[in-house]
Amino acid sequence: MDSNEKPSHQRPEHPDFWCKRFQAGQTPWDAGCVPEDFARFVAAHPQPRTTLIPGCGNGWEAATLAAHGWPVTALDFSPAAVEQARQVLAGQAVDVVCADFFTWQPTQPLALIYERAFLCALPRKLWPDWGHRVAELLPAGGLLAGYFFVSPQLKGPPFGITDEQLDTLLLPHFQRLEDRPVTDSIPVFAGHERWQVWQRR
Ligand SMILES: C[S@@+](CC[C@H](N)C(=O)[O-])C[C@H]1O[C@@H](n2cnc3c(N)ncnc32)[C@H](O)[C@@H]1O
Repeated sequence: MDSNEKPSHQRPEHPDFWCKRFQAGQTPWDAGCVPEDFARFVAAHPQPRTTLIPGCGNGWEAATLAAHGWPVTALDFSPAAVEQARQVLAGQAVDVVCADFFTWQPTQPLALIYERAFLCALPRKLWPDWGHRVAELLPAGGLLAGYFFVSPQLKGPPFGITDEQLDTLLLPHFQRLEDRPVTDSIPVFAGHERWQVWQRR
C-alpha cells in the first residue's frame, strides 16, 4: 500500500469499502423496494431490453425486469453485495455477477443500462471512465436510464454531480430524452434526485 493511501475499506473505488458496509448492515442508500419512475419506465416499454445493472447492491429492480421477461445482469464488485443480491433474487431469472464494471464483458449486446446510486458511489476521478464505459457498452439507440444525484454535495459517497458535469460526461455520446425530479427518494437522496433517460447516438 502506498504510504499516502488510505486502507482499502476507506476507499470507495475498492470492493472492501462496500463489503464492510454490507456486512455491517450499513446501507443507507438501499431503497429496499422498486422505485416508482423505474417501475413506470418498465411498464412503458413492453419490449424486453437486455439490461445491465452496474453496482447492483441488493438488486431489487432486477426481479421486476426478470418478471417482465427482460434478460438482466445484476453486477457488483463486492462479494458481500453479490451474496446479498443472490439471496434477494433467489429463484429469479437474473444473472448475478461479481465483477468490476470497468472490465466486465457482456455476452450479448445490451439495450439498457440502469443507473441507481452507482455513479454517485464512484470517486469523481472515475467519472470520465464511467462516461466512456456506458458509451462503449451501449450500441446506437441503447438507453441509459435511472436516478442521478444532482447535488452540490462534495463529500461522499454519495458524491453529488452538477448538471454541467453530467452533460460533460454524457452529451458527447448520448442525447437526453427525459429529466424530471423524483418524488419517492429515500432520505440520503431526497430533494436532489432526478430521473433521466439518455439515448446512445
Ligand atoms: C451505493 S451502492 C448502490 C447499490 C444499488 N445500486 C442500490 O441502488 O441500492 C454502490 C454499489 O456499487 C458497487 N460498485 C462500486 N464500484 C463498482 C465497480 N467498479 N464495479 C462494480 N460494482 C461497483 C458497490 O459494491 C456497491 O454495491
